[in-house]
This record gives sequence, C-alpha cells and structure tokens, in this order.
Amino acid sequence: MKKVLILEPSLRKESFNKKLALYISEKLRDLDYKVTDFHMESLPYMNQDIEFPVPLQVQEIRDKVDEAVAVWIVTPEYNGDMPAVLKNALDWISRPTEMGGGRPAFIKDKPVFITGLAGRSEAMFSRERVVFLTKRITMKPMEPQVGIGLEASAFSENNYSIREEDKAKLDEQIEAFHNFAKEI
Ligand SMILES: Cc1cc2nc3c(=O)[nH]c(=O)nc-3n(C[C@H](O)[C@H](O)[C@H](O)COP(=O)(O)O)c2cc1C
Repeated sequence: MKKVLILEPSLRKESFNKKLALYISEKLRDLDYKVTDFHMESLPYMNQDIEFPVPLQVQEIRDKVDEAVAVWIVTPEYNGDMPAVLKNALDWISRPTEMGGGRPAFIKDKPVFITGLAGRSEAMFSRERVVFLTKRITMKPMEPQVGIGLEASAFSENNYSIREEDKAKLDEQIEAFHNFAKEI
C-alpha cells in the first residue's frame, strides 16, 4: 500500500488546518493510501551539535519521508511565512545522514503537495516559502496547491467547518495527487 506522510505544523488543538488534514487523510484512505503523520512538536530544535548520533524523532521523520510516495503539507501562515516547527522539520530532513555526507538521497525529487489555510492571503506567502525551501533542499513541490482564506471573524470566533467550495478545491487537489501517484 502506498504511503502518504501528512505534515500539519499548527500545534493548536482546534487547528483549522488540522480539519483540512483530516479531510484529506480520509479521502486518501478511501483511495487506498496509507496515511502517516508525525508529531511535529516532538522534534528537537535543529542543532548541529546533536546531529550524530541521530535523535530518535529525527530518524522517525526521515523514515516516514523515505517510505512515503509524497509528503503533504497542510499549513497556516505565520507573519507571511511557514510556522517555525515546519522550517525546523525541513531543516532536519535536509541534513546529511552520515557525518561528512551530502544532501540525503531520500528527499531528492520527493513530491510535496501543499495546502494552506489562513486569512485573506489564503496562506499564499507561507505556501510560497514552502515551495522555495522544499525546492532548495531538492524536493519537488507539486501543483495544484490549495489556498483557503477566511475572514477575521472565523479566527476571533474560532469557528470553521470546511465549506463546500473548500471541499471542491481539496477534492481537485486529491484527484491530481491520485492521478500522479497511481502511476508510480
Ligand atoms: C504568530 C502568528 C502569525 C500569523 N500571521 C498570519 C499571516 O501572516 N497571515 C495570515 O493570513 N494569518 C496569520 N495568522 C493567523 C493564522 O492564519 C490563523 O491563526 C490560523 O487559524 C492558524 O491556523 P490553524 O487554525 O490551523 O492553527 C497568524 C497567526 C499567528 C499565531
């Protein structure tokens, strides 16, 4: 069974992005993918002093990326950028797995699907940063992306359930993923 790793870097319990990640996971399971996830907050901060021997959680995320046909990032936007835990995770997986080694082979050309929910920007800036960074570390950001923008009241009232128009965008992205993944 092909695996998809979903990374969801909002740590808040009632995260709107988590709702999207759950929706995507259920649809992927219906299409017979095994969905894996990772507790982003369990990773230590990037620190070259602790790279060798590799911390347990770093090995875990590397293995999960390696085993997955694609990584699916579902992210909010923090001050026009990706959340720090996501940057930290991508920094960790970009690093050599052996002392003195180069860029690890397991991330090379790894497809990355990107979904983002935020305010009116539709997480455009954080999605752009994810594209920039994943490309820079040799991963392969894929199209289409999905950006969902909410009015400020949704955040102040902490109230969001996935709208029909959002489902339509997500379904299109899931279909594009499936068309791609069934060929590999
Ligand atoms: C530190 C911080 C910075 C934020 N900056 C932005 C921003 O630049 N653009 C935006 O649209 N929303 C911004 N927001 C609002 C988030 O998009 C909003 O809190 C969103 O609900 C977070 O996603 P979540 O529901 O999955 O936790 C920011 C929130 C935080 C906590």
